[in-house]
Amino acid sequence: MTLDGKTQVYGLVGYPVSHSLSPVFQNKAFQHFSINALYVPFEVKPEDFEKAFLGLKALGVKGVNVTLPHKERALELADFSDPHAKAIGSANTLSFTPEGVHAYNTDWIGFLRAVHKLMPELKGVKTLVLGAGGSARAVVYALRGQGSEVYLWNRTPEKADRLCKELGCEKVSSPQEVLREVELMVNTTSSGLKEQDPPLFDYQLLSPQHKVMDLIYWDTPLLKFAKSLGCPCQNGLDMLLYQGMESFRLWTGLEVPYEVVREAVLEYLQST
Ligand SMILES: NC(=O)c1ccc[n+]([C@@H]2O[C@H](COP(=O)([O-])OP(=O)(O)OC[C@H]3O[C@@H](n4cnc5c(N)ncnc54)[C@H](OP(=O)(O)O)[C@@H]3O)[C@@H](O)[C@H]2O)c1
Repeated sequence: MTLDGKTQVYGLVGYPVSHSLSPVFQNKAFQHFSINALYVPFEVKPEDFEKAFLGLKALGVKGVNVTLPHKERALELADFSDPHAKAIGSANTLSFTPEGVHAYNTDWIGFLRAVHKLMPELKGVKTLVLGAGGSARAVVYALRGQGSEVYLWNRTPEKADRLCKELGCEKVSSPQEVLREVELMVNTTSSGLKEQDPPLFDYQLLSPQHKVMDLIYWDTPLLKFAKSLGCPCQNGLDMLLYQGMESFRLWTGLEVPYEVVREAVLEYLQST
């Protein structure tokens, strides 16, 4: 790839960002279409986000993904925002245009495309969502939009109360309370990032008819246990790819093939 005076700059803004896989597949997507563009990580502290936002605009950066902890602020600062981002309350994609900054949320659509592989029909399906952070909001929004009946558990109940009130789901005081009723379970908490994290509930209570998705990009202890019981499972890698593919489409109007970006990410993961 040749960088020159016409190279367009895209990136990822978060804190931290060094672990992110987004630069790997977004750069692969630009290469796939021979677009003279570069996607770089920008590590920005929470207190510096506003300055960074103005800086990106002033520097002529074309678009960025936004991740923790800036997603809410990104939505507030943008000139225009899509209705999904507004309903979810956060933006993970910004597009800098001559008319102003557009904010989008592609997490919900990434989740939906991924979960459809596990569960093609969501209407009337009872789902248990674990967690009430930013990703839980996108997940619940997507599920409710498809007519799924959503129960939600969170370690901090007050956050669950707020999310349920705003997005129309039912809070439960423990996952066990509804486990027998639900067909689909989605872990949106960051518990499981470390192998030694204590289980969120007694995983022995799962049975093979439960379909289990975890937003973490690899097989967590929850997924490993569910798989051992024969539950259909999915980790968060597909959601990551689909949300990134949607961001790429919003910036360029082009649909990068799933296999191209998946291969790039898997190759990268194997080499690290
Ligand atoms: N696959 C993808 O594309 C994708 C997209 C977005 C996020 N993610 C992943 O999803 C996870 C959550 O992201 P987020 O943006 O929602 O983060 P967030 O807004 O910080 O929310 C974190 C959630 O995890 C819960 N939590 C953290 N540690 C816990 C523990 N030890 N036990 C029980 N609950 C715990 C928190 O509960 P409290 O409210 O009680 O603190 C909260 O509900 C991360 O691992 C992230 O990498 C994946």
